[in-house]
Amino acid sequence: MTRPNQSRYLFRFGIPSIVGGILGLLIWSLWFGVNSDRDNVSSLINHLIPAGHCACQTAVSFECGSCLRCASGLPEDPTPQARAYNPVYDAHNLSLNAAQCQGFFPGLFEDVHRAQAFWTAKHGISMHDLNDIHLVDGMARAAVVNGQLYVISTHARGDDHRRKILGILGSIHRALASSPNTSALPNTEFIFSVEDKVDDVASPHHPLWVLARKPDEKAVWLMPDFGFWAWEHGKVDGKIGPYTQVVDRIRQKDVPWEEKEAKLVWRGKLSFAAKMRRALLEAARNQPWADVKEIVWKDKTNFISMEEHCRYRFIAHVEGRSYSASLKYRQACGSVVVAHKLQYIQHHHYLLVSSGPDQNFVEVERDFSDLPAKMQTLLDDPASAERIANNSVTTFRDRYLTPAAESCYWRELLDQWTAASRHITDAISPSEFVLRGIRYESFILLDSQKMMQFP
Ligand SMILES: *[C@@H]1O[C@H](CO)[C@@H](O)[C@H](O)[C@H]1NC(C)=O
Ligand SMILES: *[C@@H]1O[C@H](CO)[C@@H](O)[C@H](O)[C@H]1NC(C)=O
Ligand SMILES: *[C@@H]1O[C@H](CO)[C@@H](O)[C@H](O)[C@H]1NC(C)=O
Repeated sequence: MTRPNQSRYLFRFGIPSIVGGILGLLIWSLWFGVNSDRDNVSSLINHLIPAGHCACQTAVSFECGSCLRCASGLPEDPTPQARAYNPVYDAHNLSLNAAQCQGFFPGLFEDVHRAQAFWTAKHGISMHDLNDIHLVDGMARAAVVNGQLYVISTHARGDDHRRKILGILGSIHRALASSPNTSALPNTEFIFSVEDKVDDVASPHHPLWVLARKPDEKAVWLMPDFGFWAWEHGKVDGKIGPYTQVVDRIRQKDVPWEEKEAKLVWRGKLSFAAKMRRALLEAARNQPWADVKEIVWKDKTNFISMEEHCRYRFIAHVEGRSYSASLKYRQACGSVVVAHKLQYIQHHHYLLVSSGPDQNFVEVERDFSDLPAKMQTLLDDPASAERIANNSVTTFRDRYLTPAAESCYWRELLDQWTAASRHITDAISPSEFVLRGIRYESFILLDSQKMMQFP
């Protein structure tokens, strides 16, 4: 008599609550896997959690190893009396002329020329295209008129946006002020975003200046990031400062290769790009060559400074929500940067070379499955690892990430942008411009609050 009732009871209440319970546990595990900052998520759950922002299967392999030599279609020897780039004399010269910029930094302007060709094929960019861009937080509209930088409007949500916008404006101002030929600067107007991703602020078909793009975001223009001006991340991770100051601090400590620890170092926050970063943790677990740990910002667990990374021969690089601005600091170390196939392109990524005599970093799969094998190869052949580290320094720190290269890049960006947007230049009336914008020099004197939503 009681049995059918019991099984009916089980059927009506027991099974749904068991299913509900399992489902709840699963959802909780996934939530936990994505949001925990500690190394306390089992590898099983890591397999199950969604890839989130890095769901891409279309990683970029930069087959542009030739860029170091291809010089973007320029003749091999631009002028007979042209001399070779010399980091001692040239790295800090902000006033290199256009021919020197081209000759000293072949391959640096790839993306600018790509964007120019893209828009020229579409009959150029008009004021209407700019007006079509809806400005949201993290964006600013600015102009160059008679060689001077003007701010037209800014939208910032908090100090993070404000500081990034100021960093970009400062960099542009520096490149304009140091231009060897101010009469070569045409009037123009543009909109930039300091957000991590294009789709944080706009759809990808706008002519927007951004910090990083995915390969299929062809309409946008790449700028050097705000960290070349200066960056302070927060109160906890020490002072960062201008990029050149980080480089100075690294040079002062200058750990020779022989004294660097033969290990792969990585420190980062796990809840950004949880699946990918946990995959690195898994691949490195219990390996004698690994010093890979999560940072828990609350109590600064496992924190080491930017410069301390240089004590290691190998430094892992992992994208976060989008590109990671820390790549340039890692490239300053004289160590081997080990990066997964990157999904986001920054202005200097075209110079990354993953094989051959000019190799300047080591590339692994996005799931880090080949990391142990690649690490073994590097450890077995320290001389070739040292060559990669040397190439990284000579290519990036001493050449393409210098103040000279950065100001060349900004001027080339303005130049190619105006070449693709003659309608905008024609629409600007210099005498009436003071009514539309405020000079950069005045803008930086405004109160912080006023800067965030200007005018
Ligand atoms: C920087 O480069 C310009 C152009 O070649 C040159 O005239 C100038 O003397 C250089 N400045 C320094 C400090 O080397
Ligand atoms: C400066 O730029 C203008 C406009 O592009 C050009 O006509 C002139 O020859 C340049 N001057 C020098 C010294 O390069
Ligand atoms: C790397 O650079 C250092 C310093 O310039 C040099 O002493 C060393 O021989 C170089 N090593 C290789 C493998 O090229």
